Amino acid sequence: MRIPPDIVSLSDYQRYFIARTEPTVAAYIDGYAADGVTMRANEQAFSRLKLIPRPLRCLKGATTQLTLFGDKIPTPILIAPMAYHRLVHPQGEAATAKAAALTGHIFSVSAQSSLLLEDIALEQQAPLWFQLYPRRRLHENYDLIDRAMLSGYRAIVVTIDAPVSGVRNVEQRAGFSLPADITAMNLTRYAPEEIKQTRPASPIFQGMLDETADWALLKSLLNYSKLPVLVKGIAHEDDAAQAVEMGVAGIIVSNHGGRVLDSMPASLDLLAPIVRRVGGEIPVLLDGGIRRGTDVVKALALGAKAVMIGRPVLHALAVGGLQGVVHMLTLLQTEFEMAMALCGCATLEQINSQLIWKDDGQ
Ligand SMILES: Cc1cc2nc3c(=O)[nH]c(=O)nc-3n(C[C@H](O)[C@H](O)[C@H](O)COP(=O)(O)O)c2cc1C
Repeated sequence: MRIPPDIVSLSDYQRYFIARTEPTVAAYIDGYAADGVTMRANEQAFSRLKLIPRPLRCLKGATTQLTLFGDKIPTPILIAPMAYHRLVHPQGEAATAKAAALTGHIFSVSAQSSLLLEDIALEQQAPLWFQLYPRRRLHENYDLIDRAMLSGYRAIVVTIDAPVSGVRNVEQRAGFSLPADITAMNLTRYAPEEIKQTRPASPIFQGMLDETADWALLKSLLNYSKLPVLVKGIAHEDDAAQAVEMGVAGIIVSNHGGRVLDSMPASLDLLAPIVRRVGGEIPVLLDGGIRRGTDVVKALALGAKAVMIGRPVLHALAVGGLQGVVHMLTLLQTEFEMAMALCGCATLEQINSQLIWKDDGQ
């Protein structure tokens, strides 16, 4: 696939994606819960913060390298778990994994990937994480963790913020449904999760929530997994503290890109209190609305150890396949390095809250 020469930023990929993608698929990928209050807040929160550069500092030997769970990785920008990459490209997650391998980015594969987690891991050099939506039958969670470990995945991400999917009006209006040839391949071997119809008058509370994940289930997964377990979707500092106490290896502050509970604050606004409470004991990551290298700097300045990007990956995969994802990741990494250099930071440790302009009205 030829990449259009006027694609020079992540938003350019989105423009081409919208123009070229079947509207129902675009509605699923770029959609949001309800009115998009949270999705917009994610991006606005980054625009609101301003950076104050510190020139003339020594930048010799500058690097964006960091260590996460014992792995040295070249960049703090990771690929967020997203379902069904084959919706936008026939090679789906295999192409994304290859792009991650070529550029050194960690790729978190979704439980709902459209290729088998085992196949995505084949021949890939990328450090892969596996994301799990907790399942009601405990042994299926264990089986998925075993499968990920046997396939060489480096960490498990347990997503806790979507016991029900959000009010997806954008998708509903567009009439999105999964094409017959695309399924959550990892899950087809397990019996469907049946919903007990105990209270027919209540469309959600009719037994569906009787068996959703709770802290006890998370504890079981932590006890079982030999891989580090991160929780994704923590928004409250008390929940962060409880997760640390339970022994999670990392926290991902996220509002699911505004796709679940509309009216949640921007994930960037949730970050600082959680970082403070966690107190450096484990890494805190952030996702939601990262579109520029300066956004990465801002997230790190407020205490994130690393960030994840979501929709831009699927935009780039749709427009340019493997090359598109490599190009998009390179654009973001280049912008990030540029922003670090302009801010006077030679290492990730030098990115701190002093870079954030405190507008005290003077
Ligand atoms: C199409 C799509 C599918 C997603 N699927 C999953 C998923 O399977 N598991 C999960 O934990 N998060 C999922 N997410 C949420 C992302 O991991 C991430 O939190 C969010 O996209 C980050 O926001 P951004 O898109 O603004 O970068 C999905 C997001 C999108 C856009």
